[in-house]
Amino acid sequence: MSVAINPSILSADFANLQHELERISTADAAHIDVMDNHFVPNLTWGPPVVKRLREVSPVPFDVHLMIDDPDRWAPQYADVGSESVTFHAEAATAPIKLARTLRESGAKAGLALRPATAVEPYLDLLTEIDMLLIMTVEPGFGGQKFLDVTLPKIRRAASALEGSGIPVRLQVDGGITEETIVRAAEAGADCFVAGSSVYGAEDPQAAIAALRSLGKRARKKRRPHSYTGINISDECSCS
Ligand code: DX5
Ligand code: ZN
Repeated sequence: MSVAINPSILSADFANLQHELERISTADAAHIDVMDNHFVPNLTWGPPVVKRLREVSPVPFDVHLMIDDPDRWAPQYADVGSESVTFHAEAATAPIKLARTLRESGAKAGLALRPATAVEPYLDLLTEIDMLLIMTVEPGFGGQKFLDVTLPKIRRAASALEGSGIPVRLQVDGGITEETIVRAAEAGADCFVAGSSVYGAEDPQAAIAALRSLGKRARKKRRPHSYTGINISDECSCS
């Protein structure tokens, strides 16, 4: 799959959001972080604001819901015109039902995992989703440091996706910079959320272009791993 760069408007100037969306017109999508002060200790915006912003945005919306009870609230974000809606596995009661509802509403369905949530229990759900989001920081705030401890999980998820042949995007979110995008892409991610490194740059479009080219180069170099579910140390050395 091609490399996608989705800047997070969490690091944008909230007094000028239309202008801030125009500054990332070369992005693949705008990443919209929805927080409810319950699932995470931070609060952003809800459906009416997302609806109006979508009307003036030059790029599609990739909505990331960091909220409790997404089963109840997520469909509204599909209804206001978001191209994809991602909810957290830790918060959803019926993730399969919710993913199907989102797809029926015309949005792509994404499933997000906090850094310490294992991917393996969700691998049977790959046919139900369009994107798997592996958080590379604890959700809640922009500007945090990329957690290298998530790299093995990205590798395992990428191998499982490649092995299955199911076209699911592998997104990473948190601490993505010109340095960490290389590690995440080599591990197998193909969709990169970047907040502070894009909006903190003097020229956000140049930052997007630089991230895209680094991500592409790293993906070209990578050799897909084959995931067998067996640790190297568990393998027998049969002669
Ligand atoms: C964190 C959010 C991220 C955040 C990324 O909870 O989900 O999307 O905006 O910001 P940076 O790129 O600054 O880590
Ligand atoms: Zn996010």
